Amino acid sequence: MKVRKPSMKHYAATLVAAASVLGIALGLAELGISADADPAVECPGVGKPESQYMGADSCALCHTKGDAARAPSKLATLDEFSIWDHRDKHRIAFKSLQSPRALAMEPLLGMNPGDAAKNRQCLACHAINLTDKSAGATLAGDEKSQRAAVAQGVSCEACHGRSSLWIDRHWKKGEWSGLKPPLAEQRYDQYGMANLRDPVRRTELCLSCHLGNIACGKFVTHDMFAAGHPPLPAFETEAFLEQMPPHWQPVPPLSRTRSVALEGLVALRASVRMLADANRLPGGQAGDFAIYDCAACHHELQIPSSRQLPGHFGGAPGRPPLRSANIVLATAAIGPQSTSDGRITPSPLDAAMARLQTATRGRPFGEPQAIEAAATAVISQLDEAIMNVQGKPLADQNPRHVIEQLCRAGAATALDYESAWQLTGSLRAVVSDWQQLAAAKGSAKFDPKIQSSIEELSELVHFPSPPESSTAPRPANRGTLWENGADFDSEQFRKKLGEIVKLLDSR
Ligand code: HEC
Ligand code: HEC
Ligand code: HEC
Ligand code: HEC
Ligand code: HEC
Repeated sequence: MKVRKPSMKHYAATLVAAASVLGIALGLAELGISADADPAVECPGVGKPESQYMGADSCALCHTKGDAARAPSKLATLDEFSIWDHRDKHRIAFKSLQSPRALAMEPLLGMNPGDAAKNRQCLACHAINLTDKSAGATLAGDEKSQRAAVAQGVSCEACHGRSSLWIDRHWKKGEWSGLKPPLAEQRYDQYGMANLRDPVRRTELCLSCHLGNIACGKFVTHDMFAAGHPPLPAFETEAFLEQMPPHWQPVPPLSRTRSVALEGLVALRASVRMLADANRLPGGQAGDFAIYDCAACHHELQIPSSRQLPGHFGGAPGRPPLRSANIVLATAAIGPQSTSDGRITPSPLDAAMARLQTATRGRPFGEPQAIEAAATAVISQLDEAIMNVQGKPLADQNPRHVIEQLCRAGAATALDYESAWQLTGSLRAVVSDWQQLAAAKGSAKFDPKIQSSIEELSELVHFPSPPESSTAPRPANRGTLWENGADFDSEQFRKKLGEIVKLLDSR
């Protein structure tokens, strides 16, 4: 396990006044957090410290036309650039910094017109981040090509890692291509290509932008939200991978089931790390409202209210709790424990999470030392659970069992819209795995009733339909995902989950 040593110096750093490689003027506003990655932390999808960006156009040379003969290992179809260019929202992420919404945010954040597209904190998530000086993240080429590369938004190397050390060798036979594990994995580490087939690393990468990663300089502060940044919808890796859309080969049966088990744990770990990192920020940053449950403050007042029911206020009444998203999937992945005499007890994670909730609510925005201790305990529980899943062979994954665990965990909690949405995404992935497996084995074990129940759940949360194909045009930006939750009925959803459990039990 990697030891993280967050340095106070890093957090205290204000925007470095140095002109960037691009020679662009930095946004004048200090938006509350350093956009430089902490050098002590290995940030996902970054690559070797000494490596440079080459830009997506250099990948386009080989990854555009789809040339199966040139891709002997069958990992790549060599049309990845086309899919990303025409279909993937990441391609337009930089353009969004010049959209009417971004322009409206600028004066509220104290920026000059046009500065969002030059601001280090925005670029950290909306492009390859050439302004991150701490990582030596420069791009080969002149200033014009640098500007062009940034304007391509979240491009290949924002996920696969800076490529100067591997671009000339990652397709060579003998040296890289066709290597069997673990040799292939060693190449990734040696040259800094991100291993995105590893569900843990992949999920950490996505979450670094879709949830945030303070130590890596990526954080949507409450100031940004209040100025107009759209809320970041709860992230469920399998659903988001499907929506991207994929520019990779379908994964083998059972690996999505295994991914689901890991992704929930990784997401909860990332969100608890955010809290712990924010807690260490000087100057009261621990109170950044963006760490907490948005709906805790942003709801209509009601008396009596469901919030006044027993058990809702973990510490004391009226203090913002953590965001509830990510908790159910992790709970489902660990599951209740049964003791030797057959009693069912809550998992150690539940107890550790309860202590964390109390620590954040003991006083408004929590008691820093208690948060530090409780967060550390939760993170080590999750580290252990992740290692347990990783240690199990793929063949041990049982989709039926995972579906049951997910449904039971969901039915047992006061599910909010976002958690229900995440649960649905995970269920859909596992069910498709089960179906695939049943089809491959030619066994009739898969029950189509399960499939239709999951479709009904999907309707209850307005789950988006998967893209028709990887070449269909890029859909309009959703923007309003949150509004979809307005008619969400938790009782109805949980009843449906209970029915699925019964259905599974009956066969
Ligand atoms: C000179 C041609 C060429 C260039 C330039 C190139 N690639 Fe590739 N790449 C290939 C080929 C060919 C394969 C497939 C190799 C195989 O099938 O064994 C491949 C495979 C890959 C893989 C899978 C490798 C693995 O082992 O998992 C990734 C990821 C990838 N390329 C990303 C990129 C990115 C990102 C860029 C730009 C920074 C890029 N490539 C530039 C030719 C190229
Ligand atoms: C470097 C930051 C970054 C990383 C890493 C990243 N994303 Fe994104 N993603 C974004 C941004 C920014 C947008 C919004 C783009 C826009 O519309 O302007 C986005 C949009 C998306 C969307 C479209 C959402 C919508 O509103 O329709 C999907 C799906 C998505 N990302 C999936 C993923 C997945 C899956 C991963 C991990 C494999 C990932 N992202 C990694 C920054 C990132
Ligand atoms: C922690 C990463 C992160 C940071 C920092 C960040 N964003 Fe975003 N932003 C995202 C993601 C992810 C989305 C897409 C959310 C979704 O719909 O799934 C997004 C969406 C947007 C959108 C809406 C795009 C659309 O049309 O739907 C705008 C505008 C935007 N961001 C502007 C900004 C500006 C301006 C800044 C700097 C002040 C900024 N962002 C900082 C991650 C980030
Ligand atoms: C938002 C993150 C993201 C961006 C941007 C992105 N990729 Fe990927 N890419 C992934 C993920 C995640 C996978 C692997 C998923 C899996 O196998 O489960 C992948 C897989 C691949 C593969 C197949 C090898 C493999 O490991 O499955 C190739 C080749 C590839 N990407 C090339 C590119 C190229 C070229 C670009 C730019 C045009 C690009 N990618 C942009 C996330 C990204
Ligand atoms: C601890 C309480 C608290 C939490 C938690 C919180 N906010 Fe706020 N929010 C506020 C306050 C106070 C304002 C300022 C209201 C005003 O000026 O009238 C505000 C303003 C806003 C605004 C400006 C528009 C409006 O209707 O007030 C937006 C948008 C917003 N918050 C989004 C979010 C999002 C997204 C989250 C979760 C990531 C969040 N908030 C979490 C307290 C909170």
